[in-house]
This record gives sequence, structure tokens and C-alpha cells, in this order.
Amino acid sequence: ATATTADTFRPALHYAARNTWLNDPNGLIFHEGVYHLYYQNNPLDNVWGNMSWGHATSTDLLSWTEHPVAIAGDEEEDVFSGSIVFDRDNTSGFGTASAPPLVAVYTSSFKPASAHHGVQAQSLAYSRDGGYTWAKHTANPVLNRGSAEFRDPKVVRYDGDAGSYWVMVAVEATDFQVVLYKSDDLKSWELLSIFGPANATGGVWECPDLFPLPVDGDPDNLKWVLTVNLNPGGPNNGSAGQYFVGDFDGTTFTSATTVTEGLQDPARLGEYQWLDWGRDYYAAVSFSDVPDGRRLMIAWMNNWEYANQIPTSPWRSPMSLVREIALHNSGGNLCLVQHAAGDLDAPADAAGSFNLAAAEISDGQHILDGAAGTVQRIELTLTPGTAQEFGLIVRGNGAEGTRIGIRPAEGVLIVDRRESGQTDFHESFASIDTAPIRTTDGSYQLTVYVDRCSVEVFAQGGQVTMTELIFPAATSTEVSLYAVGGTATINNLSVTQYA
Ligand code: FRU
Repeated sequence: ATATTADTFRPALHYAARNTWLNDPNGLIFHEGVYHLYYQNNPLDNVWGNMSWGHATSTDLLSWTEHPVAIAGDEEEDVFSGSIVFDRDNTSGFGTASAPPLVAVYTSSFKPASAHHGVQAQSLAYSRDGGYTWAKHTANPVLNRGSAEFRDPKVVRYDGDAGSYWVMVAVEATDFQVVLYKSDDLKSWELLSIFGPANATGGVWECPDLFPLPVDGDPDNLKWVLTVNLNPGGPNNGSAGQYFVGDFDGTTFTSATTVTEGLQDPARLGEYQWLDWGRDYYAAVSFSDVPDGRRLMIAWMNNWEYANQIPTSPWRSPMSLVREIALHNSGGNLCLVQHAAGDLDAPADAAGSFNLAAAEISDGQHILDGAAGTVQRIELTLTPGTAQEFGLIVRGNGAEGTRIGIRPAEGVLIVDRRESGQTDFHESFASIDTAPIRTTDGSYQLTVYVDRCSVEVFAQGGQVTMTELIFPAATSTEVSLYAVGGTATINNLSVTQYA
């Protein structure tokens, strides 16, 4: 990586650390008007190691301010993934009734210098200044199963028929299980139940989350969503996140979409529900305490297959856009619908926006004069004609470009990044990835966020998403329409330029 890659690829709409490595988002919380994003961070290098929680804040979910490391690893432990709660009743005693604390629940991955060497167990840290400085609890760990693969606690407040208490979901990663615990004080934990193995089990289970959502906005029809990231074993290889929709009674999570037969059969991957079908949307978790019941998620925009090799320097790995997610009943199938959060209309430079009226796309590639850009949102609706594949090419220049297209006969959305720019840093990076896509009215709607090293595709109103890294030349800015082997129709297209 040369010095210039930092500027060429540093995202404009996404968070990346200034000059260090990051992976999973951790401790996501909205507190005192500020969104806090902590994350797995190597404070000393731009590859994985020395795991600590880095920290950034935002008020608009689009621009982030980096702060000093919040919770640092030391000679005894790596500080792995976890979550933060606002302990408003000071149940933990780490604050006072009038100044309740934030409490972080994280995984201690114990090193040889520790008496717990070889174990992963759950530990606490607390902040009395709104999340900027943290102290580790002196009696860590607080929940130890003697397991080497017990990690990634997400703690939520349960308030329901069964009572009011803290609930932790964490994984036994190599058992493909989510373990659920309860606590009154965040310090002593009691096992509630175990979920899994189920559905995708082609890799270790990591970074779970559990939250309620109303079906189509109906507050009287609440369902619970359990999300489970896994690595590898995603629908297009490597890291990805699956979800289950069901019910949680305060003890047990049950789901009607659970398959327990035929696990590890790659042919079944298309049956499961995925948070994202792309290669680069991992360790997704949601923010706590967002007002108005909104559920916001963010993911690490990378894949463990090649994470340490992506060609950026001195930083490495961006986060995804923050997404608002909702639950939709699509013909009896309860599925997540996702939209980019934050005011992505506001920064639009009106002079830089571009619109296209309906037109036929003939066989071949057609550059859209006036649409070029490196950081943009492209919204379009397409209708098939005779072409077997049609769509959009972004970050293009000559042969270079990332294809985002529809193959109507196969019923798939594709992202083809084989010619997207730098791909040779890892043998598995260049790829054509697919997601099943359905149409009820014969047309296909795409909203695509393009940044300096990524594309995020929200298809059919956010029912299918695909997120992928790309590393194009700074001069690859063309936007084209294309059709292969026939025609298609572009019903409408508009481009919003951000930078
Ligand atoms: C997921 C993960 C977590 C772990 C962390 C370590 O990417 O492997 O399970 O807590 O990363 O950095």
C-alpha cells in the first residue's frame, strides 16, 4: 500500500479510523444526544491484534469524530466484542442514583499471563462521564463458563410479562449456539436458555443481537429478531449475518423460520434470511436506546477472508452506513427491510445531481454524461426487456467498473467486482456475487450508495441488500447503464452527489 491509498480510498460517508485497524462495531448506544460507536481496534497497527475498544461519536450518523481508545487490552486480556447499556437505575452500583453509569459488557479473551489463560469470559467496565473514559470492574470476569469460545455479549433490557431484568445474548461460537442469560445487577448472571444450532452453521457463530420490532409498524404486533453473524459460511462465502424472526417470552427465543435438518448443506443457504447478501457486511449489531423505537444497525464493512490484506493504509477497514431496519410481512414471510439512516438528502449539491427520463437500454454499455462521481447515491427503476442481464456500472473508466445488475430469468441481483479496480491482494476478492430477488410488478428498484471503496445496494425498497468493498482508481468515476444480449428499460434514474 502506498501513501496515497489513504486518500484514494478513505470513505466520505462511512467511518474509518484515522490510522489504525478496526473490526466489529461494539457498545453501540445513543446517549445524551450522541451516537457512540465503539469498535474492535488495534491501537498500534493496521492489522488485527492488541484488541481494544476504539471510540467515535456522531450526531448525524454520517460524520464521525474519533476519540482516544475507550477500553484497552493489556498483558492479561484482549478486549473483544460486546455492548453497552445505560444503567439508569444504577443496578450495578457503578454510579449513583443521581449519576447513573454506562456499563460495558465485553469479552475478556485471556492471554498466557492470566490465571484464566485460554478462556473467553464476560467482563464489565463502567463510565461515569457519558462514555468517554472507562474503568474496568475489579472483580472481572463476571460470567465464566470455562469455555474458550464464549463471546460477544449483547445486553438488552427486557420489560415484559416475565418481569424486568437485563438479558444477555452471547455465543458459544464453535457450538453454533446463542446462550441467553438474565441478571438484575449486570454482575451475577443466570442461564435462561440456549438457541441453536439452526440454519447457517458453515462457520462459527459470533456477535448476536436480540430486539423486538413491530410488524409493518403495528405496535400490537411485536416480533423478536435474533441476529447471528457467522464466519465463514455466508451466502457468497466468508463472513455474513443471518437473522431469525420469532418470539421471546423472557426465557426462550423461538422461531418459525428455524431449520435444524440439513445443516451445513450449501444448497440451503438461499433459504435462510440474511442481513445482507454481499461479501462485506459483518458483525452487524444494533444501537441501544435510540428514541422512538427506531432500530439502527451498523456492520464492519469487510470479510475475514481477506480483511487484513485490503489495500488501504495507514487505516484499514471501514464501517458500513448505519441502517434503519423494520419488519415487513411480505406475503406471510416476515422479513427485514433496510434503509440508510442519516439525512442523505441534505448534503446533496443540487448542481451535481442528475436525472434521466425513461428510455430503452440497448445491448452494450452506455455512459451517462453528467452522472460521473466517486461518492454518490444512485436511485433507479428498471424493467426487463430481452436482455439476460442489465443494470448499472459505477466507478467506471474503460474496462474498469463495478456492475450492479439483474438477471431476471435467474431471479438474482448481482454485484460483479471482477473489474472493480485493485483485486489481486487476495485470490478470493474478485467475484460475482448474487442475491435472490423477486418482483411483484415486473420492475426492479435499486438504491446504490457509492463511496471511495464500497458499494451498498438496497434493492426492492430495502428487502434485499448487498454490500461490497471495491478499490477503483480515483479517476474511475463514470456511471453507465448496460444490457447484455438484448434490451431493458430504465424507468427513472436520479443521482445525488455527495463529494
Ligand atoms: C468477530 C470477532 C468476535 C470477537 C472479535 C475479536 O469478527 O471474531 O467474535 O469478539 O471479532 O476481534
